[in-house]
Amino acid sequence: MNTQTGALLHQAHMTTIEALQSLDELLGSHKKAPAKDDLLGRKLKQLARILKSEVENHFGFEENHLFKVFVEQGETGIVTMLTHEHRSILPLALQVADLAVAAAESGFTDATWTEFKDAGAELVEREIFHIQKEEMGLLAAIASLVDPEMDEELANIYRAEVG
Ligand SMILES: [Fe+2]
Ligand SMILES: [Fe+2]
Repeated sequence: MNTQTGALLHQAHMTTIEALQSLDELLGSHKKAPAKDDLLGRKLKQLARILKSEVENHFGFEENHLFKVFVEQGETGIVTMLTHEHRSILPLALQVADLAVAAAESGFTDATWTEFKDAGAELVEREIFHIQKEEMGLLAAIASLVDPEMDEELANIYRAEVG
């Protein structure tokens, strides 16, 4: 069974994976800090927007709404594991987003590029792994644990809080 909530989460996961893949390409295609230019600036701002939305709004929805439904049904294992991963991804994602916004405004220095590259590479690894886990386990768990009324309610909350 496909749920509305699962479909919304899946859509956001795909957007995030795409952003992480283009971050990975950006990191791989420059040995040294790339020069400031408009296209790069737009890419960096878009990256920052997607990362912030993912770790603030999307993670927030999962923790504050979806995981509560799981815990109520005694499914604490998956919740503990995914929440733990959120804690390790969130500060890294915000660091990368802040560096991206600053670089979009005034370009990279050698030092900020190195910082961006290291944090970005670590983020790509952690977050893609997290999303793959959710795609494999969480969406199926939603389908089996969330009834149609609750699905409707959760999907409405998602649209209102995450967009
Ligand atoms: Fe997710
Ligand atoms: Fe998550």
